[in-house]
Amino acid sequence: MSSEKRRLIAGNWKMNGSIQDANDFMDAFGGNPAPDHVEVALMPPFTLLHPMSDRLASIGVALGAQNVYYEDKGAFTGSICPMMLRDAGCHYVILGHSERRSIIGESNAQIRNKMNASWLHGLEPILCIGETLEQREKGITNAVLAEQLAILKGAPRDAALTVAYEPVWAIGTGVTASVDQVTETHAFIHEELNRLGHDCRVLYGGSVNPGNAEDLMACPGVEGALVGGASLKADSFMEIVKAAVKAAS
Ligand code: 13P
Repeated sequence: MSSEKRRLIAGNWKMNGSIQDANDFMDAFGGNPAPDHVEVALMPPFTLLHPMSDRLASIGVALGAQNVYYEDKGAFTGSICPMMLRDAGCHYVILGHSERRSIIGESNAQIRNKMNASWLHGLEPILCIGETLEQREKGITNAVLAEQLAILKGAPRDAALTVAYEPVWAIGTGVTASVDQVTETHAFIHEELNRLGHDCRVLYGGSVNPGNAEDLMACPGVEGALVGGASLKADSFMEIVKAAVKAAS
């Protein structure tokens, strides 16, 4: 299933990282070891985008942001627009992360606005979707995912897009979805995306680490990972990149 797509290993630093941490990471990270097979990207906090941009580019690592606002400019205190992210060297922007949905209260409608604005300015959204434990236990996982993906209705079919399936119960908990759960859910997501006219990469996210990356990256329909905690350290992030290279070759 879509095995010809170049895999993506993306590191979401969330609200972590000083200039010193960024420099330490870049000193230790050797660069993308297999650019033909796997793409590597990092999403540090806004304050580190400019400082990391050139150096990451020089070692073949793409840059992304963790959020964006959908207006172009103006009186929106505290917000960052797509053009500013492009200016800082970003290619990607994470949208709809469950932490923003649940803590900040971001809605599907807002996420769609952000997606449109991102496309308009040449950013590639990484759209995060995922169910809570309660929703999985109720047996409504697919319905939840379908609703989150429904914001793609009417979107240009050729728009640059990556989707990340991140079960909320697996984020930062050390609990990973099983290979069967990941395979089954990714199959559903690909089906739903095809129905909506999109044939994009689907990443897995949620407690990915060097110990489980090989199994997860080998699951059918998994085309990379969105990594939180394990992306903060160069050595563990590199191990995950290598697992993706192995799965791709
Ligand atoms: P963890 O890898 O820390 O579970 O975080 C996953 C995540 O939310 C990435 O966006």
